[in-house]
Amino acid sequence: MHILITGGAGFIGSHVVRHFLKSYPAYTITNLDALTYAGNLANLMDVDALPNYRFVKGDINDGDFLQRLFRESRFDGVIHLAAESHVDRSISNPTEFVVTNVLGTVNLLNAARACWQSDFEGKRFYHISTDEVYGSLGREGLFTEQTAYDPHSPYSASKASSDHFVRAYHDTYNLPVVISNCSNNYGSFQFPEKLIPLFINNIVHNKPLPVYGKGENIRDWLWVVDHAQAIDVIYHQGSNGETYNIGGHNEWSNIDLIRLLCRIMDTKLGRAAGESEKLVTYVTDRAGHDLRYAIDSSKLQRELGWVPSISFEKGLELTVDWYLTNAEWLQNVTSGEYQHYYKEMYGAR
Ligand code: NAD
Ligand code: DAU
Repeated sequence: MHILITGGAGFIGSHVVRHFLKSYPAYTITNLDALTYAGNLANLMDVDALPNYRFVKGDINDGDFLQRLFRESRFDGVIHLAAESHVDRSISNPTEFVVTNVLGTVNLLNAARACWQSDFEGKRFYHISTDEVYGSLGREGLFTEQTAYDPHSPYSASKASSDHFVRAYHDTYNLPVVISNCSNNYGSFQFPEKLIPLFINNIVHNKPLPVYGKGENIRDWLWVVDHAQAIDVIYHQGSNGETYNIGGHNEWSNIDLIRLLCRIMDTKLGRAAGESEKLVTYVTDRAGHDLRYAIDSSKLQRELGWVPSISFEKGLELTVDWYLTNAEWLQNVTSGEYQHYYKEMYGAR
């Protein structure tokens, strides 16, 4: 079995690569990643010497390159995570999201189709998507696999579009596809532009914690290791043409999450109770900010037996421990271009 994982040097991708390398030593895993600002080979240092691992630096926006790679490598399966993934960046630069998330995905579909011809026996194209395609919930209800798409940000619109193309290739060409739509992930190796690692880093450096709006938006948080396990189960046991929602049944308003994070950080850093929370600073809301995401993952639980393994309190504490222990990783990814991004996004503070 030879699986191509795209975006394997990113946050979730690196956990998926690690999970597959360790769980399936008989598989060959090729990690294809362009190493954008979000891709980092340091995320895979513990596994990159394994004999069944291969890294290829390359861009999914280069269709000819993908066709060659597929011809040479004869992949049995694809797990496609490569994407531009940050909502705030999509608001500043939407076109980049269309190019990578939509056109890049179509390039990959074309390469798989050309390579596999119509011999789909044992083949699988697994597209990793997000709950943001469903739009925003009010105070009640959950996203199911039947919820109509209603994306609001350029990021979620690009992911929704890529999902439609993946389904279209199944319906039109019988390509053996499967899609999952997951809620917010947290854990080690997440780039500190996203809420949790950004706030951990700012607390360490006593910098303001920029809370958008009133901090009332709600997200459903899942430990990234549990997402990788769900991807394994869906890759191996999911049905062609199906969609599976993945979520932690773990809703937190941003401000409640931030207060919990501040309490954990106070303890870990030996600060007085309440010290970190003083850094909370309410700032202008994100444009088009979705109020609430919450996933109904009962299909995945019922049909494939997947359940999250860890409580949020425990997972968040493990995550804080990881960032504090890996201060050098954080230091490396926050030097250089990050400083420019941070200034543009949050001002000079
Ligand atoms: P990330 O930004 O951490 O990583 C993305 C990776 O893709 C990086 O390694 C980057 O170098 C690579 N990449 C970007 N453009 C590329 C290109 N043109 N060619 C090749 N590689 C390229 O993202 P993430 O948070 O790990 O998300 C991974 C996937 O999971 C994305 O498709 C995202 O939409 C989806 N997702 C993320 C979350 C979340 O909470 N982070 C939740 C649900 C779904
Ligand atoms: O729901 C899945 C999605 O979760 C993924 O598809 C995306 O790739 C991923 O980035 C994430 O999107 P969010 O926009 O929900 O995540 P983010 O960490 O950017 O923000 C989480 C919440 O925190 C959101 O309500 C905005 C708020 N926030 C975020 C930042 C960066 C702040 O209040 N301040 C901030 O500085």
